[in-house]
Formats: sequence, C-alpha cells, structure tokens
Amino acid sequence: MYPNRLKGKNILITGAARGMGAANAEAFAAQGANVCLGDLDQAEAQKVADRINAVGNGKAIAVKMDVTKREDNASAVAATVEAFGSINVGLFNAGLNKPRFFMDIDEDNWDMIMNVNTKAMWLGMQETARQMIAQGPEGGPYKLINVGSIASKKPLVDVTVYCTSKYGCLALTECGALGLAEHNITVNGYAPGVVVTPLWEQLDKDLVEIGFKERAGQAYDDIVANNLVIKRVSYPEDITGTASFLASSDSDYMTGQMISVDGGWVTK
Ligand SMILES: NC(=O)c1ccc[n+]([C@@H]2O[C@H](COP(=O)([O-])OP(=O)(O)OC[C@H]3O[C@@H](n4cnc5c(N)ncnc54)[C@H](O)[C@@H]3O)[C@@H](O)[C@H]2O)c1
Repeated sequence: MYPNRLKGKNILITGAARGMGAANAEAFAAQGANVCLGDLDQAEAQKVADRINAVGNGKAIAVKMDVTKREDNASAVAATVEAFGSINVGLFNAGLNKPRFFMDIDEDNWDMIMNVNTKAMWLGMQETARQMIAQGPEGGPYKLINVGSIASKKPLVDVTVYCTSKYGCLALTECGALGLAEHNITVNGYAPGVVVTPLWEQLDKDLVEIGFKERAGQAYDDIVANNLVIKRVSYPEDITGTASFLASSDSDYMTGQMISVDGGWVTK
C-alpha cells in the first residue's frame, strides 16, 4: 500500500457495505482517498465508514442507495460532492447472482440480475459522468471503474443471465471509454474469478439447490482443480491492489480495459 497514492481523490463506491466494495473502500481510504459508500444496506455501510474514520487518513460517509434507481445514483454523487467538494472516481461494484440452467431462466431472474449488474452500472456511470463533466476537463482525468467478472469473458453453463449482465459490463467499459474520452473521463474495469464474499457463499448454496453441485464447497473445489492456474480461490484483499491502481493516476494512460484478476482462469 502507498499511503498517499490516492490523496485528493474523492470516490463513490456502490455496493460498499460488505465484500469487495467494503474492502476497496478501506484500501482506498488507507491510501488517502475520501470515500462515499453507497449500498441498500446503509447500516452495514455506515459500520465500514465508521471503521475508516476511526483509522484516519481518508474520510468516509455512507449513503443508502438502490443502484437500479437513477435518482439514488444522482443523490449518491451529490452526497459525495457535498461531503468532499468534488468527485474524481466512481467504482460501480454493486452486483448479484442467482444461477439457473438455460431452460429454467424466467423473466424475474433475468430482470433482477440485468437491472442490478448492467442497467444500474449504466445509470451510475451516467450520473457520475454528468457531475465530472460539470466540474470541467481540467479536473481530470476522471475515472469510472466497472466491476466485471470471469463471466464478462467466458460463457458459464449455470449462470447465463449473470454472463449476459457481465458481458454487458465489458461493453459499457469499452463503449463508455469511447463516449466519455472527450470529457477527460477514462473507463476501465476489473474481472475477478472466485472471491470469497457473501455473494459467493450464497452462490455455493444456490448451485447445490439447482442440482449443479452435490455438496457445499464443491464449486470452489472444482474451479480450483479445473479452471484456476493459481491453485486457490481469492479474497477481497487479492483485488484491492488492482482497484487502487485503476483509481490512481498510475492508470491515467489506460481506457476501455477490463483487467482479469482471476488466478489465470481466463487463460484456460
Ligand atoms: N465474489 C465473486 O467471486 C465475484 C467474482 C466476480 C465478480 N464479482 C462481482 O464483484 C462485485 C462485488 O461482489 P461481492 O462478491 O463483493 O458481493 P457481495 O454480495 O459481498 O456485496 C455486494 C453488495 O452490493 C449491494 N447491493 C446489491 N444490490 C444492490 C442495489 N440494488 N443497490 C445498492 N447496493 C446493492 C449488497 O447490499 C452488498 O453490500 C459484484 O459486481 C459481483 O458481481 C464477484
């Protein structure tokens, strides 16, 4: 960690109450950034913000938001600006999964996953970029960071809608880079593989429930054995370095890229 690498950066993070969003908030603040933690679960997000404020260095606030609502994205951006004076980086991390085999997908499954993982990313990017554009190009390069997945790059039989949503995140990253460059805004992202978080713990249970796996923990074991080059699953701390790099000025000459941080899964 570099203590002042993100000094002067004011960062909105969606889905920051737990998992990778919370870990990134803590890592960013440890490097001097001020962070606004947006989540449906405001109480948990506030606990993360309290931990950050107790440590010192960057400051934190927590806001309640449903990323699928445009007005909540706008108000989270406004809260960031009100607390810290401007916004430099948006990290669009909120996401969920609910596995289904292809013929079992229904409209509810489709809409829930596509709305949170893809439509909300577009809304967050647009509302954040709106503020960045108002701040003027001399304040940039501003950074939008999209959380994709191995499912942005490889088809997976048990999670068609999740793959569709995460391929959409890749498209938003590439198209956003083209569309926002004139405003001195870059758009990049990162694509994890298996990260031990509440999302994966629930997925592990759901995979047994739909009959894709026979026992709890089998999905982890099978992926390590068959898909990963680095023979272990990952933890949020394995991801924070890449997220920090993308939030920092070290990545100023990059746009439209989604970096795989997946233990080599994408190569297999
Ligand atoms: N865990 C993994 O293995 C893995 C792998 C690849 C990609 N990802 C992606 O990384 C991101 C973070 O995942 P995680 O594993 O830390 O998940 P998590 O479930 O631990 O945390 C997700 C957070 O998003 C919040 N959230 C969900 N819906 C929301 C909404 N409508 N509005 C506001 N907040 C909402 C939840 O309350 C939660 O705090 C997601 O986009 C996920 O798809 C995860």
